[in-house]
Amino acid sequence: MSKIVSSLPIQIIDIYNDFNEHIKLKGLEQYSREWTIQGWVRDFRSQTDNAFVSIYDGSTSENFQLVCSKDTTENFDQLENLRGSTIIAIGKVIKSPAKGQLIEMSCIKIIPIGLVQDKNSIILAKTVQLETLRGYQHLRSRFRAYGHIYKIRSTLLKNIHEFFHANRFYNLDPNVITTSDCEGAGEVFTISSLDANELVKKSEEILQEKISNPESKTTLLSNTNVYSNDFFRKQAYLTVSSQLQLEALCAGLSRVYTLNPSFRAEKSKTKRHLGCFTHLEWEIAFINLDQLMDFSEALVKYVIGKTLQDCAKEYEELNKFISKGIIEKLTKVIEQPFERITYTKAIELVEEHKANILKIYSKELTLADIPVWGDDLGSYCEKYICDHIYGKPVQVYNYPKDLKSFYMKANEDELTCQAVDILANGLGELIGSSIREDSYEKIIKRMDEKSMDKSKLEWYVNLRKNGNFSHGGAGLGFDRLVNFCCLMDGNIRDVVPFPIAFEECEY
Ligand code: 4AD
Ligand code: MG
Repeated sequence: MSKIVSSLPIQIIDIYNDFNEHIKLKGLEQYSREWTIQGWVRDFRSQTDNAFVSIYDGSTSENFQLVCSKDTTENFDQLENLRGSTIIAIGKVIKSPAKGQLIEMSCIKIIPIGLVQDKNSIILAKTVQLETLRGYQHLRSRFRAYGHIYKIRSTLLKNIHEFFHANRFYNLDPNVITTSDCEGAGEVFTISSLDANELVKKSEEILQEKISNPESKTTLLSNTNVYSNDFFRKQAYLTVSSQLQLEALCAGLSRVYTLNPSFRAEKSKTKRHLGCFTHLEWEIAFINLDQLMDFSEALVKYVIGKTLQDCAKEYEELNKFISKGIIEKLTKVIEQPFERITYTKAIELVEEHKANILKIYSKELTLADIPVWGDDLGSYCEKYICDHIYGKPVQVYNYPKDLKSFYMKANEDELTCQAVDILANGLGELIGSSIREDSYEKIIKRMDEKSMDKSKLEWYVNLRKNGNFSHGGAGLGFDRLVNFCCLMDGNIRDVVPFPIAFEECEY
């Protein structure tokens, strides 16, 4: 069985592969073969009777040069206006006598098939900042930088799947429409098949009923009533995390993961927050905290290391033009062990370095923002610990249990829980993880302490009564990983094909 479909259109990479194969088999013997190729024009350069057109089709970051001549190339006089356009090129590919490319096509014919009609189109701009391109997301794939960023994004995904499959995980994607708010932060998007007018009408009916019959048990606060005509006959949300369902799948299968999207209605306009992000989550049976930290570290290192190898050419270019220092940053990440510190140690470090933290983030922080034991570390102190104290990823574990979600397993001290956040230098939180509370009684007690509505999570706590088992897992913000792997101090919007964030949904 062949994986390759040979009837697909020829791409530039096929020509390179054919050339390399020929050289391997026949040594330095001349290469001369006729090809027809389709692609987009990147650049155009002309000398009196010759013109050099560089085209791309996404299959490789290598330039593909078409050499055209006034006498022998059909449509030579149209070339100047073809930047950005889609063309068909026909000619003989030969070993290039010039520097800069291995092969080139000596073109006999160029057929324009799609012109850039607006001469002010952004795709004709020679250099554009990534920030500017956020306003042209539908055209970003036409830029060289995005050839690299999107290829690295796609390769990271391939390597993630490779890593999980090598470790015998099942890739199962739970429902993204759910009735529970896993993290309990209330930052959910409610979904409905009704239009807003119907929902308002229903709310008004309930209000009227309440006024005319004050004894009625129906209240406006009861969402079930507002949504009683809706698709599910109750309120439903887009998931904030697939963890709870993954925990159910983990029982019996032992190792599961998903790359589902998660949706968060967080009103944050930071460089790290999206309203919808690709959420790599995994769940592992019979695992303890140290094993969980070992696994997360190995995953991040493998995926980054393999992608550096797979995308060597793209990294060379990014390192030169967009993200100076990226190769060194990532190489350091894979070569050194991540630091592991308790939350208590992190708070001690913050106390010790408080004066310097306030100096470095003088615009963002005051003394009142410096956390003491029991407080969230906050993104600036996390950043300080990672960037200024260790200069590499740090796993912070044993957080106060009141800071974290209800499902995390409490330590014997009853003050802390087995939660681990992985902070990455220059980025902040990359992974949130924990060992899960597997005792039915303890998880019920925890939900009561947090005044949670247990009715929606009956099925989840019920898992603890059907052969409970120790297990743990994690969630990694995939878009944050791509940001970390492509840019230096970058913005998440610049590595996501069509980012959705607070007050931003244009597509
Ligand atoms: O720390 P979080 O909230 O953990 C969970 O959701 C767990 N239920 C995961 C699990 O154990 N299965 O989110 C996990 C990660 C964060 O560390 C962060 O990298 C990313 O998801 N993340 C976001 N990424 C982009 N935009 C947002 N608004 C994000 N919120 C979280
Ligand atoms: Mg978190």
